[in-house]
Amino acid sequence: MSVLPSYQQNKQTITFTFPTPIQFTVISPAIIRVFIDRGESGQSYAIEDDKTVTTDFQVKDAGDHYTIQTAALSVNLDADQHIDVFDKNGNALITDYRGPREHLKGVDKVHKRLVEAEGHSVTQAPTKSDKGYYEIIKSLSPDEYIYGLGDKTGYLNKRGFAYDNWNVDNPAPQLEILPNIYKSIPVMLGLKNGHPYGIFFDNTYQSHLDMGKESDHYYFYSAVQGNLDYYIIGGTTLKDVVTNYTYLTGRTPLPQKWTLGYQQSRWGYSASEEEVKAIADNLEKYDLPCDAIHFDVDYMNGYRVFTWDKDKYNGNPKKFITKLQKRGLKVIPIIDPGVKQDPDYHIYAEGLKKGYFVKAANGDVYINKVWPGKSAFPDFGRPEVRKWWANNGKFLTDLGVAGIWIDMNEPATFEGPIPDDTVFSDQNTPSTHKKMHNVYGHNMAKATYTGLKEQTGNRPFVITRAAYAGTQKYSTVWTGDNRSMWPHIQMMIPQLCNLGLSGFSFTGTDIGGFASDTTPELLTRWIEAAIFSPLLRNHAALGTRQQEPWAFGEPTLSIYRKYLKLRYRFIPYLYDLFAKESQSGLPIMRPVVLNDDQDPRVRDLNDEYMVGDDILVAPVVQKSQIKRLVYLPAGNWVDFWNGTEYAGKQDIVVDAPIDKLPLFIRQNTILPWGPAVSHISDAALHAMTFRVYGNQGTYQHYQDNGRDFKYQDGEWNNYTISVEHGKASVKLTHHGYQPVYQQVTVELADHAVTFNYDADHESYVEK
Ligand code: GLC
Repeated sequence: MSVLPSYQQNKQTITFTFPTPIQFTVISPAIIRVFIDRGESGQSYAIEDDKTVTTDFQVKDAGDHYTIQTAALSVNLDADQHIDVFDKNGNALITDYRGPREHLKGVDKVHKRLVEAEGHSVTQAPTKSDKGYYEIIKSLSPDEYIYGLGDKTGYLNKRGFAYDNWNVDNPAPQLEILPNIYKSIPVMLGLKNGHPYGIFFDNTYQSHLDMGKESDHYYFYSAVQGNLDYYIIGGTTLKDVVTNYTYLTGRTPLPQKWTLGYQQSRWGYSASEEEVKAIADNLEKYDLPCDAIHFDVDYMNGYRVFTWDKDKYNGNPKKFITKLQKRGLKVIPIIDPGVKQDPDYHIYAEGLKKGYFVKAANGDVYINKVWPGKSAFPDFGRPEVRKWWANNGKFLTDLGVAGIWIDMNEPATFEGPIPDDTVFSDQNTPSTHKKMHNVYGHNMAKATYTGLKEQTGNRPFVITRAAYAGTQKYSTVWTGDNRSMWPHIQMMIPQLCNLGLSGFSFTGTDIGGFASDTTPELLTRWIEAAIFSPLLRNHAALGTRQQEPWAFGEPTLSIYRKYLKLRYRFIPYLYDLFAKESQSGLPIMRPVVLNDDQDPRVRDLNDEYMVGDDILVAPVVQKSQIKRLVYLPAGNWVDFWNGTEYAGKQDIVVDAPIDKLPLFIRQNTILPWGPAVSHISDAALHAMTFRVYGNQGTYQHYQDNGRDFKYQDGEWNNYTISVEHGKASVKLTHHGYQPVYQQVTVELADHAVTFNYDADHESYVEK
């Protein structure tokens, strides 16, 4: 039998002296880092600052293994380097797999060629050709569910599927068979026999997550290179695991309030002022609330980033942007990383002179093609380059844009992939594309965020396509180029829910579908299904059928309008959820399992989601369906449309004609009900209404100026709304933001009560 190695302890880090030492760091009672130095230097991009909190723990020698024990976790390590993790009650969470590998059956070379000749691919056992390769194999229980993994396609429960972490812009329809799309967020959350845990693999190199596809007995993580660096995350509930994970990698900060409004987009609009104006006119004409119009690549001068083709904007884009703003519409232009190779173009010339572009292994500036043709790629890993990029954004903020949409930042290239050895910097050290690829979008987002913050003083609104774990601190994300097809409205639910579990709370899909041609029915169901998605944007590709709310006439237009109006009523609630999320990391749009992880029925529920704790959404995501089978989780539920009450833990069938989104509110919930507006204004609201579903409840409502960072200095208000024994009360429980509501109305089942603000006593008096 092997003998246990000795160990050294330095504060909260314990190093076991195997030939290759294994280090455990107790970050907090529920977070333990496992680390093996495999020669990689540099800091984490996901985790900024030292997150270690002083924590009591013991290291015990149990004879055949050591145990590191905190109040929440115990981790066993034996002489064969097996690592097993248990919760505080001794339930197994993450245990090393000790059995034989059960590789998927391959085929011989001859048959492989035959299969490939028809265009199919053959699943191979993972190749270990790369000298830096390693893998970590953990056992799977029969009763084990896996969530998270960022934006991966497919279903809520990732068990049985395998994925890659390598950001790509793959135009193939995003179905459950795709191993990877735009983002690499290597965090998995598990429920093993009902016991929650998380693992975050912090390695930017290409990695693979087989979640029980190869074998039902184990799952594994492998990486082509890099240190072995993962975090074991515990918690009593799945919610705790999300909170702990986002403690580590950061939380989505409070957004500007208007960013929760509707946004209209299409590749092609921005080719002229007239086209954009027509969109603004139609939004107004058809009485469609909206807060932003996105400007895709067409506004630029030959796709040169940080330029604006004035000829398309009657010589004065700023004037037009100001006009739109006065009409309540913000402008969000797109910026790609590729800088056109053109010596007469100032961004290229400056970047070249200062050495800001990534270089081929031979030292030449690396060139590949994107929209502008031959382009160079900024070396975003370097702080100085990020600073330069941030400053370039001033060109846009001076014109009055309200946010920046960043795209193609996997980075995507049209002429073959970027070679592995292309020199990308890791902060100030020359490194490789192989290491820095997956954080390219992350660093671009960080640069963009920093610039917007400095230049506007507002909470930056950045939307990115590529991301790594932790990008949520800097940017909202959308899920890239989906298609106008039913499988993609279906996938929106698990995909946004898994992004939420992976720390990304501000997310959305292209409503109506980006590629291919939408239909009135699909567009209608999509706006219904997405109406609570934090980012609410209709976007489509050039050359596809028009899909603006009015494109199909009636009844699509009226239904679309009805849901946009509903969305604006819920914006105060969504904003409250963001205020909470910035403290807890719990996403706005979430799978039912996050709220109720002990109910087996919701552990692989793909067609319902919740908004916060108390709203259940069961959209129709099947063509021609007009009734919906809805599973109601524990609790009592009120039908939002007609007040019918239902007991939970049952399946019900509800009518769902084309204009109806099945929607349920947990009984005894109070919700804010915002005013009917066409745009979110910067002016403070003077009144607010709260609706009571049931006959009692309490609600905490947050208010600030919705725009800048003053809330961080205490400029915010909190209101406590309560209803007990049929009697409502309103209290101002924190007063830091000057403009308080002068009037608050509480709508009970059969009557409404209005309260006026008494400034002398800072209290509310029933009228
Ligand atoms: C990419 C983006 C898409 C955008 C297009 C043109 O495909 O994902 O949203 O419209 O590029 O810029």
